[in-house]
Amino acid sequence: MSELAGQRILLGVSGGIAAYKAADLVRRLQDAGAEVRVVMTEGAQQFVTATTFQALSGYPVGTTLWDAAAEAAMGHIELARWASRIVIAPASADAIARLAHGIANDLLSTICLASEAPLTLVPAMNRMMWAHAATQANVATLLSRGATVLGPGEGDQACGEIGAGRMLEPLQIVAALAALSQPPLLAGRRVLISAGPTFEDLDPVRFLGNRSSGKMGFALAAAAAAMGAKVVLVAGPVNLATPAGVERIDVRRAAQMRAAVLQALPGQDVYIGAAAVADYAPSETLPQKIKKSGETLDLKLVRTPDILAEVASHAARPRLVVGFAAETNDIDTYAQDKLRRKGLDLIAANDVSAQGIGFESEDNALAVFSHEGRSDIARGPKRQVAGALLALIAARLGASA
Ligand code: C5P
Repeated sequence: MSELAGQRILLGVSGGIAAYKAADLVRRLQDAGAEVRVVMTEGAQQFVTATTFQALSGYPVGTTLWDAAAEAAMGHIELARWASRIVIAPASADAIARLAHGIANDLLSTICLASEAPLTLVPAMNRMMWAHAATQANVATLLSRGATVLGPGEGDQACGEIGAGRMLEPLQIVAALAALSQPPLLAGRRVLISAGPTFEDLDPVRFLGNRSSGKMGFALAAAAAAMGAKVVLVAGPVNLATPAGVERIDVRRAAQMRAAVLQALPGQDVYIGAAAVADYAPSETLPQKIKKSGETLDLKLVRTPDILAEVASHAARPRLVVGFAAETNDIDTYAQDKLRRKGLDLIAANDVSAQGIGFESEDNALAVFSHEGRSDIARGPKRQVAGALLALIAARLGASA
């Protein structure tokens, strides 16, 4: 993964139990290609030691303004200049308050004042502290100065309460930082994406489904939003968090997906059909559980509507209609046939029989066909592959604008 390649991230860790998660965050940031240096407040050192962060980052950890040896090695002004982004995770109520008021009474707050690097805060605190008017006013001040705030999430808190105040998980933070570094290639564009499987109910307990995890469609939604698009995501039954800034419509069956897609269609610039829509659905859904009887059971299935083909021939057709083709053999032939038959502008084909890519996996690789030719997107994490596909889409939109 190299979503943060070339970034020099100064990670400020302030006091809070979520400081332990910051240790994992160092690793995740490095995995994404960033160089990381850590500065801790005094409060943070009550929860995790500087040695932990030193071992993980591979660099000395800044803990105080008054360490002559550390200042001689890489002083606070040098660190302030070195950083291409400052991320404070966890950002405590106290750290947020001091930054909002320009107080420079420790190493981290001093560096923040002395740096031109963009500031990202990842708050973590008790829900009452987060909701307090003082904290909210401080956050508003920092936002008005251009800082970014990621989270906090909702849920169980270390203090035993439930509410908003949890620090986002390290991988969510990395994804959000990657999004912040994307060029706004789709600013002002509207993108409609379908994702995930559909479940076609046989009776109240059984359904016909497929192995689509929805990860590719969700990665596309996240990447498109990160590139500045207004994104509507029509999602089949999946177990995935909604990407930041994306409007999500949950559906279950192909018929519901069709209805949701067609309703959202007017005004869209792009439609990407990344869902694995069932081709056949039971002719009827029985109101009661089918009872066991006999050695065989015949199911009558009927064809579902082809949403993608319908979108491509619709009066409200978006400028670009993009399909996916999951194939196990003869990828080129089948993909190009689908491109023509369904009236698409682009089709992204992947080999679902290949190890480690496609269905249920974290990685993908795509061959993208248009009426003009083929381009390949090399194997990588789905988020990266999604970014590459959207860059192609943005280029085509730009060319036809
Ligand atoms: O024909 P096939 O199912 O292989 O085509 C896959 C493409 O068509 C995907 O983009 C998928 O989202 C879309 N599709 C659809 N409605 C269906 C079946 C497939 O939109 N009923």
